[in-house]
This record gives sequence, structure tokens and C-alpha cells, in this order.
Amino acid sequence: MCGIIGILGKHEVSPQLVDALRRLEYRGYDSAGVATVDAGGRLDRRRAVGKLINLSDRLVHEPLRGHAGIGHTRWATHGAATEANAHPHRHGPVAVVHNGIIENFRELRDELIAAGIQPQSQTDTETVALMTGRHMEQGLSPVEAARATLARLRGAFALAFLFQGETDLMVVARKGSPLAIGHGAGEMFVGSDAVALAPFTDRITYLEDGDHAVLTRAGAQVFDGDGSPVARRETRIDVGATAIDKGGYRHFMAKEIAEQPVVIGDVLNHYVKGDRIVLPDGLDFAGVDRIALVGCGTAHLAGHVARYWFEQLAGLPCDIDVASEFRYREPPLSAQSWFVAISQSGETADTLAALHYARDHVARTVGLVNVGTSAIARDSDIALPTLAGIEVSVASSKAFTCQLTVLAILALKAAHDRGRIGDADLARHLADLRRIPGLMQQALDLSDDCRVLSEWLSQAQDVLYLGRGALFPVALEGALKLKELSYIHAEGYASGELKHGPIALIDRDVPVIVLAPHDALFEKTVSNMQEVMARHGQILLLSDRAGIAAAGDGPHATLCLPEGGGIFQPILYAIPMQYLAYHSAVARGTDVDQPRNLAKSVTVE
Ligand code: F6R
Repeated sequence: MCGIIGILGKHEVSPQLVDALRRLEYRGYDSAGVATVDAGGRLDRRRAVGKLINLSDRLVHEPLRGHAGIGHTRWATHGAATEANAHPHRHGPVAVVHNGIIENFRELRDELIAAGIQPQSQTDTETVALMTGRHMEQGLSPVEAARATLARLRGAFALAFLFQGETDLMVVARKGSPLAIGHGAGEMFVGSDAVALAPFTDRITYLEDGDHAVLTRAGAQVFDGDGSPVARRETRIDVGATAIDKGGYRHFMAKEIAEQPVVIGDVLNHYVKGDRIVLPDGLDFAGVDRIALVGCGTAHLAGHVARYWFEQLAGLPCDIDVASEFRYREPPLSAQSWFVAISQSGETADTLAALHYARDHVARTVGLVNVGTSAIARDSDIALPTLAGIEVSVASSKAFTCQLTVLAILALKAAHDRGRIGDADLARHLADLRRIPGLMQQALDLSDDCRVLSEWLSQAQDVLYLGRGALFPVALEGALKLKELSYIHAEGYASGELKHGPIALIDRDVPVIVLAPHDALFEKTVSNMQEVMARHGQILLLSDRAGIAAAGDGPHATLCLPEGGGIFQPILYAIPMQYLAYHSAVARGTDVDQPRNLAKSVTVE
């Protein structure tokens, strides 16, 4: 993770760097820093612990001048969130910002210490600055020095180097971590993603793995991993430079939850025309023998829900896994199998690596991504946009339900291609799916009830979430949301698993949230509820009118969801999961949009 930015511009660059860092803050917010070279060639830096606002404040009192600069927003990997560990790291004539992990930094650091150079931080990145500065002190030019350092690095990195005395020079490099070069008129930019560069330019060149580039205001010279000059394509990217605002809501998360009926409608309009599903050519499931759905966190849970649809509707064997496990368990794949990478950011290192594993093992690959310009979109055989729009809140909400909707459409396509459902059944299921936005609109009305219930939940130390079938992964998602937003310990379980361990936790202080629409599995879940209540557990039942009536007055509280949506109802149940977590976080006064220790884009393994 971490966000990096570099500008060789025409104006005072530090306000521009801070503006770009604001757009990158989703990648980490443990500390931030900028370095500039002023007109006289003087390299200087400012760094501040915590949110970007602290750096902005510092720059007001201690401004930095210069038209060339680099900036960084940090998600701490090596070393705590202190000023000494904040980027840019500097040694003598060089300053460096980095996203990724230098895996062999200990070995390199030991060499430097043996040569009498003492690191000032606990970071892996500082080693890069120390080595490069040392090379320059030994007589290498800035570009040669950066190259000599790059040749020694193992691991994943996106790097930008800035040099004392060089007002029109920057060296950048990438391996593993993403990096985009932006072309302006007499200006050059570099950033972790095109979104950061959007206010400056829409002309982007993506570096490929192992590339490095020498930037001046006249342009970029790119070199491949062997050091040979290479041409990389310039593309125009439309990510929109408009300010990202909360639209009158207190938090981005509240806005993004409320946007769901509209964005789900957009997904349906994009992929469904009448009773027909419209997907890119080549996405045919007729001869497919297996599908693997892989992602991390919430994206993985979207795959977990969809597994029920692929298996029940399409009869297609479906593996799900978290990306970090998938690639290392080395699952056998075949040319008849599809691999689906699910990712909001499209940059998650583990998911990208799993995609590369699948590609190298001949499976056909689909990238289900929200950020259309991302690495996963570019590296997949077929990229399917999930069309949620920019999601700013670190905790995913609308991206999740959009992923679910695209997966539902894929599962229906698979069922139809494989002859498991005919045109009439397809039309019936699509009608169910089309009802989801309207039902979601009704489910949004549960916000106030969720707020009241959160006064109770937010007092708890532990919360259990239970669900059966496709509601089980939604229970997992509810627990994940509560944990990350409110810092309350929460676990999700398949309802039937309760008596195999977790029931030991039940007492009157542990709220148990049960997701149970009045369907074929309802009676079984009610039995599990009875087991909880017999042990004085306090149940919050989420069901529909029929379910709540059938459950009687045993539950401590209920939330009534609208009926409808057929097999796709889990999409609807995501909304109270989000609201319960959101309101509990607000009640506890945590940082809703940027919870501690998290980052929106996880670009390290
Ligand atoms: C949870 C959350 C994370 C992400 C996960 C994957 O609210 O947002 O669990 O879902 O880090 O990120 P993407 O989807 O960008 O690959």
C-alpha cells in the first residue's frame, strides 16, 4: 500500500503534491511527507505523523518551495508510524518515496552499517535512499546511482527518486507495485494510480514490471528490466478530476450505503437488456468444468455468496478462496476452468498474484473490478467493471453489493449456457434481480432502527453473526464490517456450526445477530436461535414479515427486511449489516471512513 506522487511542474509544487496525496490517502494514512527541489537546487522535506491534514498544517508554518517534488502517504509495514519512519527518506543528495516491501533490506542494511552508514529509521525504504546517496557520494550520476540501487533490490516496489541540484530530473521504477506516469504540457507526473494524477492530466503511461524511467519536463525515457530503452503505450484515462465530496452526508460510508439502489440499477442496465444478459464475447460457460472465485476480505465474501448461486443455479463446481491462500496452495487448474479475481481496487497484491498464478496455469481469467484502469483489469483476459463509482470509505459497502450483482448475472449466464435453466427461468430470475434496487431502497429505511440497536451493540465486547446458505457469508461480512469500523470483536458462523464450539461464548452480554429470511432453511435456523435463547443469549433477528411472525417473541429485537429478490436476497441483507456497523462506529466515536490500521488498497502481500 502507501501512495506515491511525483511532479516536475511549472508552479509551486507542494500544494499540488498535497492535493494528489489527498486522492491517495485511501492507500494509507499513518503519516505523510513531501520533498522538493527549489530553484537553487536545494533538496528539502517535511513529514508529519497521522493524517494528511497534519502535513498540510506543517507546510503552512514551514513551507517548501520548488517546482519539482515527490510525496508519500504511508501505511506502515516496517517500523511504527513515527516521523523518523515517514517518507520521503533522505540520504545526502537523494530523497526517495516507496510503495511496497524491499524483501532483502536487512542484508542491504547490514552492508551499509558495515560501511559506516547509520540508518535513522526502521524502514526498508531508507535503505534505498542510503544506497543511492552512497553511490552518488562515490561519484555516480543520479541516474546511475538509482540504477545501481535498483539492481540490488528484491521484493515489490514503486519508487520515485529526487536529487539535490537537479531541478528537472526524477527517476521512477516499478516491480510488483503499480505506477503510472502522467504526461502534461511541459510537465511530467508520476503516481500510484491515475486517480491521483487526474487533476493534472489524463495522458497516462503504465510502467510494466521491472521497468524504470528517467523523467524530465520534456518527457519520460522508459527502460525495461534489462536496461534496454523501450516504448510503453500512452493511453487516455477518464477518471474525472472532480472533487470527491460527501454530498451532505456526515461520512463517505453513509453516502456510499445510500447510493446502492442507484449503482445496482446501473449494473443491471449495463449487463441486462430486456431478458438478455449482455457480457463480452468469449464469456461462455458451456464447456467450463470449474470456476474459482478469489479475492480478499469483503471481495472474497462476495465470491463466497456467489458460490451458492453458481452451484445451485448452474451446477458448476465452484472453488472459493482468499487470494493469499489460493496461490500458495497451488490448486490444479485447466484450460476448461475460469478464474475470477474479485477486487474493488483492482490493485490488491494477493489477488493480482493469484490472477497471475491462474494465468500461468492456463485457466481463463476474468477480473471483476471497480477501478477499470487497475492492474487486475489490465491483466485479465476479460475485465468486467462492477460500476459502483468511486468508493472512498475504506470499508467497502456499495462495491460489495455491485460485485454481488455482477456475480449473480454471471451465475445466471452460466446456468443458461449450461442448459440448467431455459429462457423462461432466466427471465424469472432476472425479474427477481431487477427488484433488488427497489427493495434496497426500502431496506435503507432501516437506518434509524439500526442506529437505535447500535446503542446496544456498541456496548458489547463480542458479537456473533449467524446465517445459513448464502446468508452465511453475509453474516461473515457483517462481522467483518463491525470489527473494522467499531473495533468490537465479532465473528460470523454458519448457524449449524454454533453448537460445535461458539455456543460456549453465549451469555446475556454477547449479542447474537441472526440472518434468517423465511425460506426453506428458516426452521433450522429457528432451532439454532432457541439454543442461544436457552442460554440467555440476546438475539437480534433479521428476517422478513413472515419470519419475524414465525419466530414469536423470543428475540431481543428484530429488523424486518422486505420480501422478494428470490435467490438474490443476500444482496439486500448486506444493507443492515453495513448500517449496524456504521452506527456502532459512530456511537463509539471511531474514525468511520478511515479506521485505524487499515488502507483501502492493499498492495503488499
Ligand atoms: C472490508 C474491505 C476489505 C477489502 C479487501 C479487498 O470492508 O474493504 O476487506 O474488501 O481489502 O480489497 P479489494 O476489493 O480492493 O481487492
